[in-house]
Amino acid sequence: MDSLEIKGGVPLHGDVQISGAKNAVLPIMAATLLTPEKCVIHNVPNLSDVSFMARILESLGARVRLKGGTVTVEATRVKPVGNYDLIRKMRGSICILGPLLGRQHEARVSLPGGCVIGPRPIDLHLKGVRRLGAKVSIEEGYVCAQARRLKGADVFLGGRSGPTVLGTANLMMAAVLADGVTTIQSAACEPEVVDLADFLIKMGARIEGAGSPSVTIRGVKTLHGAEHEVIPDRIEAATFAIAAAATGGEITLHGVRPDHLHAVIDKLEETGVRITQKSLTLKVAAAKKLRPVDVTTQPYAGFPTDVQAQLMSLLILAPGISIITERIFESRFMHVSELTRLGADISIEGPSAIIKGGQPLSGAPIMASDLRASAALVLAGLSAKGKTLINRIYHLDRGYENIDAKLRKLGARIRRRNTE
Ligand code: EPZ
Repeated sequence: MDSLEIKGGVPLHGDVQISGAKNAVLPIMAATLLTPEKCVIHNVPNLSDVSFMARILESLGARVRLKGGTVTVEATRVKPVGNYDLIRKMRGSICILGPLLGRQHEARVSLPGGCVIGPRPIDLHLKGVRRLGAKVSIEEGYVCAQARRLKGADVFLGGRSGPTVLGTANLMMAAVLADGVTTIQSAACEPEVVDLADFLIKMGARIEGAGSPSVTIRGVKTLHGAEHEVIPDRIEAATFAIAAAATGGEITLHGVRPDHLHAVIDKLEETGVRITQKSLTLKVAAAKKLRPVDVTTQPYAGFPTDVQAQLMSLLILAPGISIITERIFESRFMHVSELTRLGADISIEGPSAIIKGGQPLSGAPIMASDLRASAALVLAGLSAKGKTLINRIYHLDRGYENIDAKLRKLGARIRRRNTE
């Protein structure tokens, strides 16, 4: 199993190219199931989650070719049931439910497995397709959904912590081939939802209002093949911006969409980090004097929960008290115990982490628990004195393309080690 060894204390400098967005490409790959015609998707990041989704599409009968940042899918014929274990292992794969139901009027999708960041029910996904007329049951660990025809309807999709991103994606993909009009109220507004809608519209779908809480989908008879370029990964961009801030360096991010990062840029500037935006680049320079801040995670366009852990790795360096409140995933603080192992002073009070910042950090062997927590540990290792060894970095490879190579190019003393 691979680990990452980091010798910290080096300010990072230079340029980094941001990859395509994991959370956009997964639902877009699932959407290719909606047509028998060829679909070509560009700017696809080389991630284990992407290869996983490709194998899931193949288990459903599609022909998939992944080559040099482009994925080509031909779902000439698809089966309503995919590989149980593959689907169970990757939560993001739940978004095959909508396209299978939309095209086949039948889907048997294994229930997603547990997740360390908190309970991740799919009740809103099921509520959505039921409203379009699907009969849904849970049998032998499968979500079984079936409908003679799907019929458009008004659906309120808000949950206890607000909208659902993949729930909105699933319902959009079920509704594009349904009879009549579907309106989704309290839809998720994330840029990844908009990117999916743009791809579906290129396939011939009729969608209005994506990116707003109210989305209207007029069903069509069939969809055709399409070609699309995936948006840049705003979470990867935020992670590299924080790498510059946490190491006292200056990095220019290329191929980034600053308009997807308003809440992150605003919060970093509040800490004293200096950011210069141009159309597709962000220059990020560390603060002269880092300031503590408070932040609460929210649905888009609020501060993203997927950047919460990384921001904590910066705030442990800011002298004074910072408070991070996690409102989306209640137990998304798995990184706290490992950051404490490096010398950070953090206490948890309900949904909040109270950070007494400015404690000196020193390297140690630590353990990654999930994707974004592992990114936070990398950032802390880069700013800690001495050597940090991060185990279980397979979590990192799920969502970051060649992160160690990109960091090395910026001057980081980081290398992958096989610690079998
Ligand atoms: C997407 O997950 C992302 N994953 C997550 O990123 C991200 O953290 C999350 O959106 C929120 O931004 C992908 O896009 C593959 P949700 P998703 O449904 O769609 C509750 C990463 O690090 N909820 O928007 O699964 C749920 O429990 C990953 O890249 C229900 O109650 O998240 C949570 O509290 C981690 N019932 C809230 O809604 C439902 O049926 C938001 O979850 C669905 C969700």
